[in-house]
Amino acid sequence: MAISITGTRPTGTPHLGNYLGMYRPALALAREHDALCFVADLHALIDVRDPEALRSHTRTIAAVWLAFGLDPERTVLYRQSDVPAICEVVWLLSCVTAKGELNRAHAYKAMVAANAQAGRDADAGVSAGLFGYPLLMAADILAMGAEIVPVGLDQRQHVEAAREIARAFNGAYGEVLRVPEAVVDERVMTVPGLDGRKMSKSYGNVIALMADTDELRRSVMRIVTDSRRPEEPKDPEGDTVFSLYRELAPADDVHAMRARYEAGGIGYAEAKEALFEALESVVRGPRQRYRELLADPGELERALEAGGAAARARADATLARMRAAVGL
Ligand code: ADP
Ligand code: TRP
Repeated sequence: MAISITGTRPTGTPHLGNYLGMYRPALALAREHDALCFVADLHALIDVRDPEALRSHTRTIAAVWLAFGLDPERTVLYRQSDVPAICEVVWLLSCVTAKGELNRAHAYKAMVAANAQAGRDADAGVSAGLFGYPLLMAADILAMGAEIVPVGLDQRQHVEAAREIARAFNGAYGEVLRVPEAVVDERVMTVPGLDGRKMSKSYGNVIALMADTDELRRSVMRIVTDSRRPEEPKDPEGDTVFSLYRELAPADDVHAMRARYEAGGIGYAEAKEALFEALESVVRGPRQRYRELLADPGELERALEAGGAAARARADATLARMRAAVGL
């Protein structure tokens, strides 16, 4: 069984795009692999400055994992900050990493480009933490000896960097680190948001995953569609309602819905109602469990602590090999 790892930054409340693009595929993978799932709270510190918000988002993310069926007996669930060895691994890696590797990271480059455009200093608003993001992510992966890293396209470059960094360390000190591989699931779509653009908290177009029934219905009803009347044929591919329905409803229902779109005879109001029903039936059970977990954080804490101990054991073993290799 291959070791897989997935990290999630606790920067907000998960939305349907996160669920379909990350949680769901990661949970499917976790059933087949020796999987690690962690809350990347150290990474979140780059953006989150409110300590209570950080703690609350961290609980939220852990509760979502458990509510959607992560089995803590099988899958190691932990907080990144509960594994101090990761930070030491960062330093050991940073000493063999070319600064140019970090200069090339998309997130950093995008900020430099935005600064240039606005006539500001190239590094305005760039913390050393943001610049070092790929190193911390490499440490997450390499410390656990992960072999596969399931990610969306946006994260592929970070896994490539982790590979380069592992090779640099091994080049200097021998075969100490396992070189991981990104697994980019081509079927994982970019989930559209209410306005048809990529669903993202930065666009304010999300369907909150753990919203209550009424809020969920209201969100679905706000999805922007074209103005075709019920009797007119519609293009299922270009439509947000259908795109989401396809990911959530049973295959037979999706098939039937597609046929009705193409033939005409279904209005967007009816399609939205069907989408709402499909979504509600996917989230109803997990939402209940999520609320229970947050109402009594004892169970959550115990799961995270047990996971933390298992993760520390793995990271400490890697760190010991790295220390010996470098001469510490
Ligand atoms: P956001 O864009 O809302 O800030 P994040 O960048 O925090 O979301 O994304 C966390 C994870 O969820 C990443 O693995 C990312 O690939 C996935 N993800 C986010 N939005 C979408 C989307 N619209 N479609 C598919 N996957 C998504
Ligand atoms: N960078 C990832 C994201 O923004 C989160 C992350 C941090 C991660 N460390 C990781 C993902 C290690 C996979 C493996 O979504």
